[in-house]
Amino acid sequence: SRDTILRRVHELARAIQDDLQAAGATTPPCLVSVIEGARPFARLLQQVLPGQLPVYEVRASSYGRGTVSSGQVAVSGAERIPVQGQHVLLLEDIVDTGRTIAALRARFLGDGARSCRVATLLSKPSRRVVEVPLDYTGFEIPDEFVLGFGMDLDGRYRELPDVVIYDPEVERSFRGAAAATGGA
Ligand code: IMP
Ligand code: MG
Repeated sequence: SRDTILRRVHELARAIQDDLQAAGATTPPCLVSVIEGARPFARLLQQVLPGQLPVYEVRASSYGRGTVSSGQVAVSGAERIPVQGQHVLLLEDIVDTGRTIAALRARFLGDGARSCRVATLLSKPSRRVVEVPLDYTGFEIPDEFVLGFGMDLDGRYRELPDVVIYDPEVERSFRGAAAATGGA
């Protein structure tokens, strides 16, 4: 639920700050949100971390349509982010196969970032194809397709306030009901 998410994001923010302090960091991290999905998570983290740090956005897509990953990661917008010499903190909604985060880390480190850490709201460890280090994980979840709080199915359900498990049966029965009443 969003309450649980909010509490957990506060904990992640605390851990991020503690690590920065322990490392004697003199510059704030360069926050990079993987859109569209990570927007709500990134926005919340931005509000909870001190200093209203800017959040840059990069687009990455591995899911073409549906719930199965295509295996290819297309990245766009990375060239506009000034990562050179910066400690990048990638903000992701959910790490599934790990391909998206692996591709983005390689990209930013290749572009001259000093480091690239990862904070993700959710992780599905059982689905991992590429091993990626996750520095901050909100919740580990089983192999289910989830929706809401930024996460979508072909653009739908992103705005749901809570994270829910996708159940095609619910959609089917709803569509059936709508058809029966001739409804939109
Ligand atoms: P990966 O590259 O396989 O780790 O996929 C990561 C991306 O796939 C995430 O940024 C999401 O956009 C999408 N994704 C993976 N699992 C889910 C899910 O359960 N619901 C919605 N999107 C997902
Ligand atoms: Mg995503």
